[in-house]
Amino acid sequence: MRKTKQPKWLENAVFYEIYPQSFCDTNADGIGDFQGIIDRLDYIQELGCNAIWMNPCYMSPFLDAGYDISDYYRTAPRYGTNADIKRLFDELHKRGMHILLDLVPGHTSWDHPWFKESCKAAKNEFTDRYIWTDSTWEGPENMGSLHGISERCGSVGVNFFSHQPALNYGYYKTKKPWEQKMNDPGPAATLEAMMDVMRFWLKLGCDGFRCDMAHSLVKRDENAKGTIAIWNKIRKFLDVEFPDAAMVSEWGEPDKSLAGGFHMDFLLHFGPSHYNDLFRCDEPFFCTRGKGSAKQFVKTYVGNYEKTGGKGLICIPSGNHDMSRLSYQLETCELPLAFAFILSMPGAPFIYYGDEIGMRYLPDIPSVEGGYERTGSRTPMQWDRSANAGFSAAPADALYIRIDPDENRPDAASQMKDPASLWNSVKSMIAFRRRHTCLQSMGEVEFISDTYPLIYRRKDKNESILVIIQPADALAQVKTSGEILFTVGSGAEIKDGVCTVNGVSAVFIKE
Ligand code: NOJ
Ligand code: CA
Repeated sequence: MRKTKQPKWLENAVFYEIYPQSFCDTNADGIGDFQGIIDRLDYIQELGCNAIWMNPCYMSPFLDAGYDISDYYRTAPRYGTNADIKRLFDELHKRGMHILLDLVPGHTSWDHPWFKESCKAAKNEFTDRYIWTDSTWEGPENMGSLHGISERCGSVGVNFFSHQPALNYGYYKTKKPWEQKMNDPGPAATLEAMMDVMRFWLKLGCDGFRCDMAHSLVKRDENAKGTIAIWNKIRKFLDVEFPDAAMVSEWGEPDKSLAGGFHMDFLLHFGPSHYNDLFRCDEPFFCTRGKGSAKQFVKTYVGNYEKTGGKGLICIPSGNHDMSRLSYQLETCELPLAFAFILSMPGAPFIYYGDEIGMRYLPDIPSVEGGYERTGSRTPMQWDRSANAGFSAAPADALYIRIDPDENRPDAASQMKDPASLWNSVKSMIAFRRRHTCLQSMGEVEFISDTYPLIYRRKDKNESILVIIQPADALAQVKTSGEILFTVGSGAEIKDGVCTVNGVSAVFIKE
């Protein structure tokens, strides 16, 4: 596997994911905006995060919260103009921070002018931009489709929701006459168009992309060889024009995505990673009951780590806009240990906005912009104890999504003042990671125990740190000597070559 050159700043990156709708509203229209993000950069920096991933902020009918793009080149006016986002880039860079935009290469909105053109019966530049069959009565195999919506006689494949027609990158193996090869003119033009979109935003000053459904581009592509080849073409283009651009894939199979030239891949809450075993199941590993299991997670992680060793980063998110929040199945006292883990593993960690204060997931709230049950993880950031939790000066019923109605809901201002808060625990954990290169993105990891307590060693050329995390409410004893550098929870001590770790605690030992 080819090693992709990685931007230096990723070695020490800790990301903060911003769902722009819900972060901070500065013009009282009930929805977050770029100015709100600019106003809160100091907050993000104080927490210790030095990079941002922002969800899509482009023109869209918002049937999928902006993952349904109708103009790749223009920001949605509700967030601000292209000049405003440029200001955001500049403000970030002044602080030495970086930002990844969301690239949605697999589909557009059905409102996109490319799609409207491609629906026309007369051949034009966009006829082959999407995956069309040659009959209204036959859909493409293995994917949803729309038919009866076009002047053109054909059905069009969809990538996710029905309003998201699939862009045409071709088929790895063709079968039907209308299936196009990856190098045919239609698919080749789609790829050129997407690289042009990337060029536009990178020139304006963004630092790279989080790539939506990165695995989905080429069809009938069982082992993803076609999709990997497409990403390698993009890699070549980036190497020439934007060698410092950082790329993270929503793929969940790092052996494949990193082979495609990505620098990083996320663990996902679906698919084979066993990520949910840790935080999001009936008996999560990070629960004080001590009945969960990290075995499958560790086995899969180590398997991937070995396959991809040194070739890129496997990133562990605290959550994201598609899954329930970390605090849904974990108690307040369990959250610092989950963060001790997330923030001491290799790869760049991603903190979902609000997870640093333990914001709640609100099940059963009305769906907004195609969120459905995901809406409960997308509620407005809780800044302080003022009206609308300091998110917006709009009337409460005009907010994009309702605020958590609990009067004891956590908020950033209160937690920042409280030395025992989750916010301060996350902050000191990030600062600790920043002080020790072996704990950062590139340091090696070796698992020693995959049960209670979880034990692993992080190592680089400078130092070696043993991490012992005991989420269960029971003392743990581990043979080791060394110096305790940092603890989480109620602590640990080392005596006569044995480290005793209190229940619901973690310890970091310099060996
Ligand atoms: C993954 C995104 O994270 C999700 O929010 C979106 O609905 C789908 N991709 C479709 O773009
Ligand atoms: Ca606003």
